[in-house]
Amino acid sequence: MLKEIHLNNWKSFKQATLYIDPLTVLIGTNASGKSNVLEGLEFLRRMASGENIESALTALRGGLEWATLKSERQFTLSVLIEAKATDYFYSLTVEIDTQSKIVNERLISINNNKNIFQKIDEQTDKIYLYALKESIEAANLVINTLQNIFILEPVPTHMRTYTPLSHKLSNDAKNIAGVLAALPDTQQTCCENILSYYAKQLPEGDIHKVWAEKVGKLNSDAMLYCEEEWVNGEITLIDARSMSDGTLRFLAILTALLTRPSNSQLIIEDVDNGLHPSRAGLLLQILQELGRQRNIDILVTTHNPALLDNLAPEMVPFIEVAHRDNKTGTSKLTLLEDISNLPKLLASGTLGKITTQGKLERSLTRREAENA
Ligand SMILES: Nc1ncnc2c1ncn2[C@@H]1O[C@H](COP(=O)(O)OP(=O)(O)OP(=O)(O)O)[C@@H](O)[C@H]1O
Ligand SMILES: [Mg+2]
Repeated sequence: MLKEIHLNNWKSFKQATLYIDPLTVLIGTNASGKSNVLEGLEFLRRMASGENIESALTALRGGLEWATLKSERQFTLSVLIEAKATDYFYSLTVEIDTQSKIVNERLISINNNKNIFQKIDEQTDKIYLYALKESIEAANLVINTLQNIFILEPVPTHMRTYTPLSHKLSNDAKNIAGVLAALPDTQQTCCENILSYYAKQLPEGDIHKVWAEKVGKLNSDAMLYCEEEWVNGEITLIDARSMSDGTLRFLAILTALLTRPSNSQLIIEDVDNGLHPSRAGLLLQILQELGRQRNIDILVTTHNPALLDNLAPEMVPFIEVAHRDNKTGTSKLTLLEDISNLPKLLASGTLGKITTQGKLERSLTRREAENA
């Protein structure tokens, strides 16, 4: 599992570390750097999946031009990966010039402090192996962990159509019906029971049942359906074309939690986007319960005070704050619990309230001014 990502000269970051736990919440004002962190993970996923630097960066906002911190030519992204016998530290340094290239790639076994491999640059191509079997195992572990990073960005308008049967949820969740309908029968029933159980708690009225059905003469496509009850005893059957945006986003999150591989990293930007504040607690309960059951680590960003207010005090160590340094303008990441006057701030209001008032950022910039 991923435990840390380190960002050096990456986008708006000079140097920062994000600690990754079973449920990590990343907060911060607009343009503080939250999405830049997630794009660091997406870049590593694309590289581990065999893309070259150009295509991996072109897929991100700003492309090659905005990959390195302004005025720098190289960036380094590193991850700490926890494994059974040892932790591994994988690091990739890329130079962006007239031609972009990898200038350093290292894999270190932390417990015995050994370089498993190091590739200095493409010209010299020095690969140092100390034990072939362990090197291959370690490299496979790193590749699998990075390849399994999944960023979910549900787009309700894409989710309203008939979709082909599929074994992998797409990032925009448009094939949600195809993914559910392609599951073996017992697994499909089990997933749909869980979807129905949680979806019931979403609207004011009642959602009886949510399910996907194969359609078409060849049963090669699928559609998502649900039964709603707004007036006692009157049940209406609707399909995804008329489901609400919030309902579809909610079902997409549930489906990702139920169908992504165990031991993988799920990332959801603006996790509560489109969700009524009164349902923030329900969403957190789902993330925690299903994440734990399926052993999926979840990293979310949010701007929603209602979600922050629903986080139990035990979650404080897993909340990180992105902000822009007062003097340098670069992005910084700080663990919420490391904000020196946090107990005092929390005595003045809930986490949602002090966030709304901008008190966390003020406290961080004051500390920077004092340390200058
Ligand atoms: N290469 C770069 N060098 C310096 N700054 C950069 C670079 N690339 C992006 N930025 C800055 O990063 C900021 C955007 O950060 P990001 O999109 O991560 O914010 P965010 O926290 O996700 O905000 P929001 O909450 O609005 O989604 C912009 O101010 C942009 O100028
Ligand atoms: Mg963002």
